[in-house]
Amino acid sequence: MRIAIYPGTFDPVTNGHLDILQRSAAIFDQIIIAVAEDNYKKNLFSTEERLYLLEEVVKDIPNVKVEKFSGLLMKYVRTKGACAVVRGLRAVSDFEYEFQLSMMNKKLNEHVETIFLTTSSEYSFISSSMIKQVASLGGCVKGLVPNLVEQALKQKYKKKYRG
Ligand code: COA
Repeated sequence: MRIAIYPGTFDPVTNGHLDILQRSAAIFDQIIIAVAEDNYKKNLFSTEERLYLLEEVVKDIPNVKVEKFSGLLMKYVRTKGACAVVRGLRAVSDFEYEFQLSMMNKKLNEHVETIFLTTSSEYSFISSSMIKQVASLGGCVKGLVPNLVEQALKQKYKKKYRG
C-alpha cells in the first residue's frame, strides 16, 4: 500500500489544492491530507474549521483522508508509514522554497520522496492569502474555491465586520 502525505495549512482549501489532490489520489493507494496545526501564519480558520472544510470537500474521493499534525512533518510521515510527500508547484517562484523544504525533509528522512505536481494553469495564480484578501473586500471567489468554502468565507467576514 503506497501512502502519500499532502501537507499544508489549507487556510482555506482552494480548487488549486483539490486539483493536486485529485491527481495524486490517482497515483497513490492512499492520500492523507495533513493539516498543519502550528505554523507561523496567522490563520483565519481554526484547525477544526480547516479540517471540517477539507473533510466535506473530499468526502467523495474514497482513498483520501484528512488529519491534523503538529511538530515535524517527517516524524508524522513515519508514524503513517508513508513513502512520499506531495507538494504542488504553481510557478517558478514556488520552486526555491519547495526545493529547500524537500532537501531538509530528505535530510530528516532519506526514505521519503517529495513528489511535485504542477498546478493546473487555471489555478496557478491563486493562494489562500489571495482568496482571503479578495473575499474580505467583497470580491467574488466563485470557481476558485469549493462552494462550501465560499460560504464559509462569507460567514467569517460578515462576523468580522459585525464584531
Ligand atoms: N493551489 C493553490 N494554492 C496553493 C497550491 C495550489 N496547488 N499550492 C500551494 N498553494 C498556496 C497555499 O494556499 C499557501 O498560500 P498562503 O501562503 O497564502 O497561505 C501557499 O501556497 C503555501 O502553503 P502550504 O502549501 O499550505 O504550505 P505552508 O508553507 O503553509 O506549509 C508545511 C508547509 C506545513 C508543509 C511545512 O511548513 C511543514 O512541513 N511544517 C511542519 C514543520 C516541519 O517539519 N518543518 C521542517 C520542514 S523543512
